[in-house]
Amino acid sequence: MSSETVNVDEFKELANQALPKMYYDYYAGGVDRGTDVFKALALGAHAVLAKASSEPVNVEEFKELAKLTLPKMYYDFYAGGAEDEHTLRENIQAFQRITIRPRVLVDVSQIDTSVTILGHHISAPILVAPTAAHKLAFYEGELATARAAAAAKTIMVLSYSSSCSIEEVASSCNAVRFFQLYVFKRRDISRQLVERAERFGYKAIVLTADAPRLGRREADIKNKMIAIPEKNLEGLITIDVSSDQGSKFETFANKTLDASLRWEDIEWLRSITTLPIIIKGILTREDATKAVEAGVDGIIVSNHGARQLDFAPATVSVLEEVVHAVKARVPVLLDGGVRRGTDVFKALALGAQAVLIGRPVLFGLAAKGEEGVRKVLEMLKNELETSMALSGCPCIKDITRSHVRTHYDKLHSML
Ligand SMILES: Cc1cc2nc3c(=O)[nH]c(=O)nc-3n(C[C@H](O)[C@H](O)[C@H](O)COP(=O)(O)O)c2cc1C
Repeated sequence: MSSETVNVDEFKELANQALPKMYYDYYAGGVDRGTDVFKALALGAHAVLAKASSEPVNVEEFKELAKLTLPKMYYDFYAGGAEDEHTLRENIQAFQRITIRPRVLVDVSQIDTSVTILGHHISAPILVAPTAAHKLAFYEGELATARAAAAAKTIMVLSYSSSCSIEEVASSCNAVRFFQLYVFKRRDISRQLVERAERFGYKAIVLTADAPRLGRREADIKNKMIAIPEKNLEGLITIDVSSDQGSKFETFANKTLDASLRWEDIEWLRSITTLPIIIKGILTREDATKAVEAGVDGIIVSNHGARQLDFAPATVSVLEEVVHAVKARVPVLLDGGVRRGTDVFKALALGAQAVLIGRPVLFGLAAKGEEGVRKVLEMLKNELETSMALSGCPCIKDITRSHVRTHYDKLHSML
């Protein structure tokens, strides 16, 4: 014990001598998830060291930390996708197939990442996507997320399925917020939510169009995912989901959502609000054209983070198709698989005005609360800034189609 320790293995040996076997085995075995942390604490450890102590240097590393922190059921709910998770992998890999065509000898001593989206000036084209139940990640839930979005000077889209109410989030800070809506079989409930959002200063309604019923998220089915408390629906609706079969979250959603919603219903939504309407979940030129004709004010190219239809295309692979159909009549945004500043750069080069991020926010929140979300937004903004500097684009408007080369471009050039 007295000789100088020179490498990690020697420390391991010292630990082996010093610790009761049960604890040594535990630490030596590695910590993979929140349940492991729980077990270690139950066995008398004061804290778990392992990977949890390192500072993330990129957004994906928050996922590892979140996995350590969260119970398996919640981690799987956040991380998982539908069925074989083909689209989940594709959302990431499609970005990786696009390369950047940088230009040199451009004055990039000043970089400006700011943009204006639907009249709101924000620090970078990176918004917070609507995601359910932030209190499963962190006790302050959406209040922490909203404050982090405000600190980053960006827009948060609050999910209807939030664990803090429309009113609570509105009074937490004065950031620009949009409200995401599902249409319920009981239209009076949707109307009430829209009216509350408008009254409490939300600046747009984001209508999610890709969820007439919930996709099959098999991890949730296996875990018997709980029906999350729907704060915004308190006093409005009660549905019995006491059955022991599969995901209660899915049962609740399928009993409440209106699967008969059609394009004509945009008119109904228009009739109950003066707010701009953004439609989320568009993946084809046909639907993009219908959306513009229906009079929406913006489009989000989205496959719901690959949680709905498996084998739907990766969002970035269909972005240009939508952009061409829209012909600049309304802004086009994109979400799904954005994990790097270079991903943001690529989406903008292909015609998106901004991107939204879902899971990175949840993982930041689970790992480090409000600070974690702030860091995630900051990291992506900083990475975007670096990508712009190294590609010769001082401003967002300098990023053009000719700054990227897609898989399709490569095939085309071989003809
Ligand atoms: C855990 C979770 C919950 C979500 N909840 C909602 C929701 O309530 N409403 C909605 O329109 N989209 C919801 N989404 C989809 C996101 O808005 C967004 O489309 C998706 O997360 C983007 O992909 P990314 O997670 O790869 O960034 C959810 C996504 C996740 C991961």
